[in-house]
Amino acid sequence: MKTNAWKQDSEYVALVADLLAQPEVQRLAEFTQHHHSNRLDHSIAVSYDSYVLAKKWHLNTTAVARGGLLHDLFYYDWRETKFDLGSHAFIHPRVALRNAEKLTKLTPMEKDIILKHMFGATLAVPKYRESLLVSLVDDYEAEHEFFGPLRTKVAKQLDRFRGKVSAG
Ligand SMILES: [Fe+2]
Ligand SMILES: [Fe+2]
Repeated sequence: MKTNAWKQDSEYVALVADLLAQPEVQRLAEFTQHHHSNRLDHSIAVSYDSYVLAKKWHLNTTAVARGGLLHDLFYYDWRETKFDLGSHAFIHPRVALRNAEKLTKLTPMEKDIILKHMFGATLAVPKYRESLLVSLVDDYEAEHEFFGPLRTKVAKQLDRFRGKVSAG
């Protein structure tokens, strides 16, 4: 995503403004994250890019924007903790969910989005297409230019997923 493009999108901002106003969310700016200056920028990028695609494909934009923003709501640098990579993949979605539940009331879909965002690295299968979308955007966001081949790739995987899960 173009940095700060989300700020001009008032429809998106309206969905996440209450969360962005919370110090617990702003605190994510203190942690570095691959390919983004910090974990807050990463979380906003995942949230907004997922939102744009969810809107295009008539999925639940609110759940994707909010779940995406809170998907990495944890406050440690995993490279400095005792976890190995596998344990981190398993543990941090659970930590993020617990932290997110302290901030706001989450729908079942938003909980699933946070809990299953490491699908691929862990065996927890997403219950909704929205959860799969956020997990794919999270993966590719780290490594690739977003709007290009990624969009096609995500569309294909979502298509394959259709029918296996409820439209939610
Ligand atoms: Fe994560
Ligand atoms: Fe992430």
